[in-house]
Amino acid sequence: MSTCAIHPSILSADFANLAAELGRIARADAVHVDVMDNHFVPNLTLGLPVVKRLGEVTDLPLDVHLMIGDVDRWAPGYADAGAASVTFHAEASAAPVRLARELRARGAKAAMALRPATAVEPYLDLLPELDMLLLMTVEPGFGGQAFLDVVLPKIRRARAAIDGAGLPVALQVDGGITRDTILRAAEAGADVFVAGSSVYGTADPAAAVDTLRKTAQA
Ligand code: DX5
Ligand code: ZN
Repeated sequence: MSTCAIHPSILSADFANLAAELGRIARADAVHVDVMDNHFVPNLTLGLPVVKRLGEVTDLPLDVHLMIGDVDRWAPGYADAGAASVTFHAEASAAPVRLARELRARGAKAAMALRPATAVEPYLDLLPELDMLLLMTVEPGFGGQAFLDVVLPKIRRARAAIDGAGLPVALQVDGGITRDTILRAAEAGADVFVAGSSVYGTADPAAAVDTLRKTAQA
């Protein structure tokens, strides 16, 4: 792969010490922030006030992953809060093109996510509207789940479509990324890797980030 970015997910970090936890991943390319509302997914995490404060205490770009309903209403606020990228789920948006344009107009990168069972083909024509496509490699909602190899063919098809159209769209994977699975995801064409438990579940998160990057580039 020519490019490779590692985005640790703070879902597996110590929620009582988030500022300190961000200091443990200084060599990451961005920090992945999972927002869940107990409607789109069966879990509840954090929201806009916390994202705003995170932006104030770190120089790392914020990669905000919204797993919420009514995302057309809520996502623009995360762009206004300073998120570098805002990812909405295609399954939760009534107007994904309008939303992507609104995010870009507010200065954020626009990203769209697909659950493992959502086909990418109906969305390929939307790629020019996006800065990043996220293909979930677990069912969204929880950290620590096993990587779903069944998503690999979809990653390959998305990579072929992006390259075929010559588009500058990043291809992110999220869920079950470890030093074993990152290689399979990278070979399939992913270039941005979210990792929660395999970074914050280790004694040395900074070293874990370095190891993941080296493995993906190998
Ligand atoms: C799951 C979240 C992920 C989660 C990944 O729904 O979107 O970002 O933090 O955790 P791991 O890397 O442990 O699978
Ligand atoms: Zn995520």
